[in-house]
Amino acid sequence: MKSDQRVTFCGIELVSPVLAASGTFGYGIEFEEIVSLDKIGGFVSKGVSLEPMAGNQAPRIIETPAGMMNAIGLQNIGVKAFIEKKLPGLSRYPTCAVIVNVFGYQVSDYVEVIRQLNDAPGIAAYEINASCPNTNHGGMTFGTDPASLDELVTATKAIATRPLIVKLSPNVTSIPTMAACCQTAGADAISLVNTFVSLAIDIETRRPRIANVTAGLSGPAIKPIAVRMVWEAAKTVKIPILGLGGITSAEDAVEFLLAGATAVQVGTASYADPRAVERIARGLEHWCARHHVERAADLTGKLDTTRG
Ligand SMILES: Cc1cc2nc3c(=O)[nH]c(=O)nc-3n(C[C@H](O)[C@H](O)[C@H](O)COP(=O)(O)O)c2cc1C
Repeated sequence: MKSDQRVTFCGIELVSPVLAASGTFGYGIEFEEIVSLDKIGGFVSKGVSLEPMAGNQAPRIIETPAGMMNAIGLQNIGVKAFIEKKLPGLSRYPTCAVIVNVFGYQVSDYVEVIRQLNDAPGIAAYEINASCPNTNHGGMTFGTDPASLDELVTATKAIATRPLIVKLSPNVTSIPTMAACCQTAGADAISLVNTFVSLAIDIETRRPRIANVTAGLSGPAIKPIAVRMVWEAAKTVKIPILGLGGITSAEDAVEFLLAGATAVQVGTASYADPRAVERIARGLEHWCARHHVERAADLTGKLDTTRG
């Protein structure tokens, strides 16, 4: 039996529900020799800002027993270079959805980046990173303050000519509150989760192991928390969810779909295995076929909590 892997995600037709996550797949085009871009649902670009950014000082990445910590500092080439140098080559892969991750330090930065992207061809959607410090509000991240989040989503939705996905921070007390805030402000979808704020200490020098002191934890360590957050959000909002956090196998992807995600993203796993996204996309197809799941879309939200 063959299983239909196509899913519709806020109006976008995806050939597979498995995509690559922001910050772990460059601008997509760098992976064309490694991954069959026509075999994956798509990818989310590294976060792009108005101006190019150099990022934080090293050390900025370390491995942990079940994942990694990073404080790259949103290094990127800027929206202009992204449009001119990275986007054109991606037109060779029309079925690979290009989702552009956007960030800024104030609402007007996000709006200006989206305004420039609106004029560029070949983009399926925008994913706004709401985990950045909002400089207009004393550094509190957009994604941890409902008023800031509302302001950001309302302003970016007003200008976006493509579906607007909001990537939520997991560093909050209540994911349902933040998910509902996005829906009310007009978001077309949400992605969760981003990395968890963490700290690792070199006990010999008594210094932080990452120059930025704190860093974002990702990888298998966060998966059960991310799955719980997707499940909580899916019970609260009607807009579709992109689930991610620690996915390294097709089975992990199935968990996120059952919890309520319509599609998933693979991040840290691409560091250990650059072909992870394609492997997991194929693996999901085989898993569905073996389990007589006719359509991958049928898995979404099918978690059964009635039996003990
Ligand atoms: C090195 C690195 C860079 C990242 N850069 C971004 C980014 O620019 N924008 C963003 O929204 N998320 C970024 N993320 C977060 C990932 O997209 C993802 O949300 C997180 O790592 C959890 O998924 P994972 O456990 O599969 O990696 C980055 C993650 C890593 C490891």
